Amino acid sequence: MDEHAGTGPGAITSDGCAVEFYALLPSFGEPEIVHAAVPAGASVLELGCGTGRILRPLAALGHPVTGVDDSEDMLARSPDLPTACSPIQSLRLDRRFDVVLLASTMINAGPVTRQGFLATVRHHLRDDGIAVFQQNPPEWFETFTGAEPVRDDPGGIRRIIRSARWEPPRMHVEIEYQVGASVWTHAWTSYQISDEELAGNLAGANLRRGDWLTDDHAWFTARPA
Ligand SMILES: C[S@@+](CC[C@H](N)C(=O)[O-])C[C@H]1O[C@@H](n2cnc3c(N)ncnc32)[C@H](O)[C@@H]1O
Repeated sequence: MDEHAGTGPGAITSDGCAVEFYALLPSFGEPEIVHAAVPAGASVLELGCGTGRILRPLAALGHPVTGVDDSEDMLARSPDLPTACSPIQSLRLDRRFDVVLLASTMINAGPVTRQGFLATVRHHLRDDGIAVFQQNPPEWFETFTGAEPVRDDPGGIRRIIRSARWEPPRMHVEIEYQVGASVWTHAWTSYQISDEELAGNLAGANLRRGDWLTDDHAWFTARPA
């Protein structure tokens, strides 16, 4: 069974994300990766934008941005950005964008949810547009053992892997985040997607993979097929 749960102070989204934690979390180079992959000034729609952690720096880099999330609590943390509250799968805005972004390894959802996400990506992408994705690449599932259980990230964030259970093709992970005296936990399930399956999933949404943006294949582009 897939896991999506969270604990800790403040609102928790339906997929287990803690709003207060995401409001504290800095970006880790994600906006710069997207910015370098797309034309200057390209309009960007982010699906699952949360508090605008990635989208706000993209706006500062000169992109007209729009964010979508199904959590009102997350969107309340981005009053400075144009946003819409909706499940990604049923979103049908009457405009298209130069860039549609699905970051934060959301593509590693189960096959049905994944295909719904991809259909929405294609629906909102201009025919000459670029979709940008961040995934857990296939190799991540072979190497993620929880062997580095404690990591200190910028922003005074301590990340502790409480458990990692590999049940191919799914990895069940529970992580604890400590920031000062606050503690949040997040449990989720991530599906391994082989490059062949990815190509098939993209084709099912009339998309075709473009470039790998990072050597570890975590970031890639796709274009309308
Ligand atoms: C892991 S967080 C990432 C947020 C943001 N991309 C970031 O990196 O800071 C995932 C976000 O997607 C939203 N989300 C998850 N599933 C969704 C769905 N099916 N439709 C709309 N939003 C969704 C959650 O509410 C949450 O804000």
